[in-house]
Amino acid sequence: MTNAPEVVLGVTGSIGAYKAGDLVRQLRDAGYAVTCVLTQRAAQFIAPLTLQALSERKVHTDMFDLQSPQIIHTTLADHARLVLVAPATANIIGKFANGLADDLLSCVLLATRAKLLFAPAMNVHMWQQPTVQRNVTTLKRLGVRFVGPDVGKLACGYEAIGHLAETEEIIRAVKQLVPVVGAPEPPRPQAKARPKSASRKTRRKR
Ligand SMILES: Cc1cc2nc3c(=O)[nH]c(=O)nc-3n(C[C@H](O)[C@H](O)[C@H](O)COP(=O)(O)O)c2cc1C
Repeated sequence: MTNAPEVVLGVTGSIGAYKAGDLVRQLRDAGYAVTCVLTQRAAQFIAPLTLQALSERKVHTDMFDLQSPQIIHTTLADHARLVLVAPATANIIGKFANGLADDLLSCVLLATRAKLLFAPAMNVHMWQQPTVQRNVTTLKRLGVRFVGPDVGKLACGYEAIGHLAETEEIIRAVKQLVPVVGAPEPPRPQAKARPKSASRKTRRKR
């Protein structure tokens, strides 16, 4: 048995999906257990096998998986302490804001009572689109937390808002929402070893 809080990491179809591997690694280093749920589109940006190896858990991409005897979306939803969607597309934000459930990740989001954290990533004009902003506002009002997007170099060439928040920034937001109890103290820098010198007694004599 482990006390590691369960995080469902939802990955959606953005270029930023390539960072999900690092996110899984850093979440685990911070003391979380991570189960990845990829949308069909996300699986075009990052190989499920990569996330399976890094999480040491089965990666879910399909709600109708005959290999799973349990109902996947409700099982994941019930066990999660946090559902983190990173990167979060305009599509998943819009679906969740409107209560839609047409794939595994959107069903997990509707079925869970866990805390929710979205890290959006998209083209600046998509992000600034009033319909997208309306959906973000709706979710914020319902208690969904957001981290980013940041200003940065976007895949479309713009230097603008829409960049996925840095992994460290996402981890900080996760820790604030679901702290790891009894997390090991970060290692302190070692005190410099004193050069071997004469004993106190000998020094006093000098
Ligand atoms: C190369 C490429 C990059 C994309 N990047 C993004 C992105 O960063 N953010 C976004 O909202 N949509 C992006 N899209 C569009 C989404 O992949 C598309 O809306 C898709 O339906 C999202 O599905 P999902 O939310 O189920 O993963 C991109 C599409 C392509 C082809």
